[in-house]
Amino acid sequence: MKPLKFTTITLFPEALQPYLDSSMLYKAQARGIMAVEYVNLRDFGLGAHRSVDDTPYGGGDGMLLRCEPVFAAIESIKATSPDAEVVLPTPVGQTWNQDLARQFASSAAGKHYIILCPHYEGYDERIMSIVDYPFSLGNYVLTGGELPALILIDSITRLLPGVLGGENSAAIESFSDGDNLEYPQYTKPAEFRGMAVPEILLSGNHGKIAEWRTQQSALRSKNHNI
Ligand code: ADE
Repeated sequence: MKPLKFTTITLFPEALQPYLDSSMLYKAQARGIMAVEYVNLRDFGLGAHRSVDDTPYGGGDGMLLRCEPVFAAIESIKATSPDAEVVLPTPVGQTWNQDLARQFASSAAGKHYIILCPHYEGYDERIMSIVDYPFSLGNYVLTGGELPALILIDSITRLLPGVLGGENSAAIESFSDGDNLEYPQYTKPAEFRGMAVPEILLSGNHGKIAEWRTQQSALRSKNHNI
């Protein structure tokens, strides 16, 4: 199967690489399931200072990403990968969730996503004209698109076949069926500082255990965010 490819466009590749080169995401790349490339937006900057930002028309605080470096960077990637689609982490995008992660993962083979990581106060709105998927990570504002890019890549990649160990670990966890949260889990020791593992889990009765887990899931999901 062809790997799922992400090309990140960022001024700070050093903020992305250590995470992507660790643990399961490292393994996904080593196994040829997923691939990441880094494009430094600075390489497409303007003038001697390789400038990528400027002040907003109409006044206001801070600097905005300019169109020219962003368009040039995306066009340079699309020159060899014309079907690549552009993802923009932005607070005004659609809120990212497990359903979307599952949709991206299920059509992943051979796909190529360019994730543009804005920085500074924001970006020139005309950049939206070359964006296929604007996504928000939630109702808060971050300093840049790097953390959202990591979250998008992580939440999609872990759902790809061959990335997680157990066949079912992605299937039965929190959020894997709509809004249901996973039941509580325990490992050894059976008692720790006076806290005992629920008796039922030590019973060996798989039917009763499954029932308990379903109940616990429902309870947690009902009380979520209360
Ligand atoms: N960039 C800044 N804040 C963000 C958010 N909440 N989601 C996605 N991208 C962002």
